[in-house]
Amino acid sequence: MKPWVIGNWKQNPKSIKVAQALISDLLRTDNRSLLSQCQMMVIPSTVHLAKVADTIANLEPNLSHGDSATLIVKAAVADNPLLRLGGQDISALSAQVGAYTGDCSAAQLKDCGAAWVLIGHSERRQYYNEEEKVLQKKLQNALSEQLGVIFCVGETETQYESGDTLAVITKQLEVLTSSLPNELSQDLANRIIVAYEPVWAIGTGKVPTVEEVSTTHLAIKDLLTGFNSQITDPIVIYGGSVNADNAAQFAQAKGVDGALVGGASLKADKFLAIAQAFVK
Ligand code: 13P
Repeated sequence: MKPWVIGNWKQNPKSIKVAQALISDLLRTDNRSLLSQCQMMVIPSTVHLAKVADTIANLEPNLSHGDSATLIVKAAVADNPLLRLGGQDISALSAQVGAYTGDCSAAQLKDCGAAWVLIGHSERRQYYNEEEKVLQKKLQNALSEQLGVIFCVGETETQYESGDTLAVITKQLEVLTSSLPNELSQDLANRIIVAYEPVWAIGTGKVPTVEEVSTTHLAIKDLLTGFNSQITDPIVIYGGSVNADNAAQFAQAKGVDGALVGGASLKADKFLAIAQAFVK
């Protein structure tokens, strides 16, 4: 499996121009060989998504151009082999449209060119109290629109220190296992990524040891394969203070299929250096 290298831009950058410049840097001709060796994705702010999709479409010669082909371009962007697009959040209330001020639905995200969505990120859990029921609805809405899901799990520092990491993650994963259909197609199984992101490692510069990450990832894989025999090769990626200097150690760790990168994905050279560490 080609490694997944995913940039969660969070509430960055400040302007669409900067977001577009970042895409142009990533898609420079001399980076394309690297991009083709991994499964790279960027997850911009929802308000930047459509413009970022258009920027990718304009830079990617294999895609169709022109107003009349907008939908085709967007669909193609969704499955662009060089650079995939994801969204940071979707409405729990409707997968389509509705009177839900401030929300953005799975269908709208897809229409803007996203093929994936983050669900269960610890910042959503922490600042918006997103818990089991809401996450379950988001997951169902994502799947009903055929969006791939990057489902985030991770323990707090206190839970880590008291040795509760696996218990916490097992509970968090119940959202996933309880929402997935019993008859899981291979296509659907391929569209589920679990991101292990210890809360205490996000944006702090602190990281678990490679052995700890490996153990946790292998345990997550066991849980998922045990849940459903159709999930034969679950994708589990690591997130939390991944940077160009420490990426290689995670890349070599057993059970690590890629990285979910926050801060270091906002500079093309740093993000590409992480990708390089993963393709080696
Ligand atoms: P940092 O890489 O900035 O620690 O963020 C990780 C993260 O939360 C990605 O989703």
